[in-house]
Amino acid sequence: MPRVFSGIQPTGDPHIGNYFGAMKNYVRLGEEYGKNSIYCVVDLHAPTNPNAYDPRQLAARTLEMAVANMAAGLDPEKVIFFAQSHVPEHTELAWLFTVITPVGELERMTQYKDKAQKLESTPAGLLMYPVLQAADILLYKADTVPVGEDQVQHIELTREIARKFNHQFGEMFPEPRAVLAKDALRIPGVDGQGKMSKSKGNTIGILEPLDSIWQKLRPAPTDPARVRRTDPGDPDKCLIGDYHKLFSDLPTIETVYEGCRTAGIGCVDCKKMLMVGITRELTPIQERAAELRADPVRVRDVLAQGAKEARQIAAPVMEEAREKVGF
Ligand code: ADP
Ligand code: NA
Repeated sequence: MPRVFSGIQPTGDPHIGNYFGAMKNYVRLGEEYGKNSIYCVVDLHAPTNPNAYDPRQLAARTLEMAVANMAAGLDPEKVIFFAQSHVPEHTELAWLFTVITPVGELERMTQYKDKAQKLESTPAGLLMYPVLQAADILLYKADTVPVGEDQVQHIELTREIARKFNHQFGEMFPEPRAVLAKDALRIPGVDGQGKMSKSKGNTIGILEPLDSIWQKLRPAPTDPARVRRTDPGDPDKCLIGDYHKLFSDLPTIETVYEGCRTAGIGCVDCKKMLMVGITRELTPIQERAAELRADPVRVRDVLAQGAKEARQIAAPVMEEAREKVGF
């Protein structure tokens, strides 16, 4: 049976790019693999980037990310869902991996270079980030890792670490592969300037109030060919057209695509029709999130239970690794 692992950054408020690109995939894989799908809020990774970390907010953000994923359909009864800092084996295995990972390999990582460049002093933890990530995955002997494109390089390093460990200390770890959400690789941002990303400030949050979403959509750029209401447009060159494909039902997509090409409808009407689909998709998620937020004890219990389940797998794997290395 394949085993799935994915880490979720405790950033707090996921956007529709995260939702379609990652979170829905977790739910789908969870239906398929049950307790062999393991999802972890990777709070130990957060402090490695001092620019994006606040100790007073970390615990709340971890909880909020758990709420968001559960609200989006991740069922902790079916999958294993927990916070990384509750399972100390992650850091212990990472330490063993540091001794077989060349510093040069780590310095070549694109994400490290990007982040380090923005810092005056680079913490060693930022360099070690992909080693901890390899431990996150291999601690569960996971072979399937649903991630975004930007993580492919780290998964390749994870494979190398597994290979090297097996070679040096004895066969033990699988070589995991990245699985990309091919149909939702790059959800565009509301500014029309490429990929939606938290760092670009062009997001639509899945837990964002609907009126706030509308305030962002109303001024959002559309096909520049539609200067006047009577100019026809190309919905394939319009981010609102892209969003319709994610949120709207088929008859609506046909109506707006035809309406755009013939100038039968204006962009504001098209955006209003998009809001119908967004409202239908996000309302139940936002209602579930409100229920969960009102009951933080329940969410903490879920994570505590998840950590127990995770440790049942992690502890014997860690024991095996310790023995292999000679402890
Ligand atoms: P951000 O870029 O906003 O910081 P993350 O890097 O935390 O988001 O990404 C979390 C997950 O969501 C990753 O699996 C990533 O590939 C996916 N993801 C992020 N932005 C998008 C997007 N615009 N379209 C599709 N998937 C995305
Ligand atoms: Na990113």
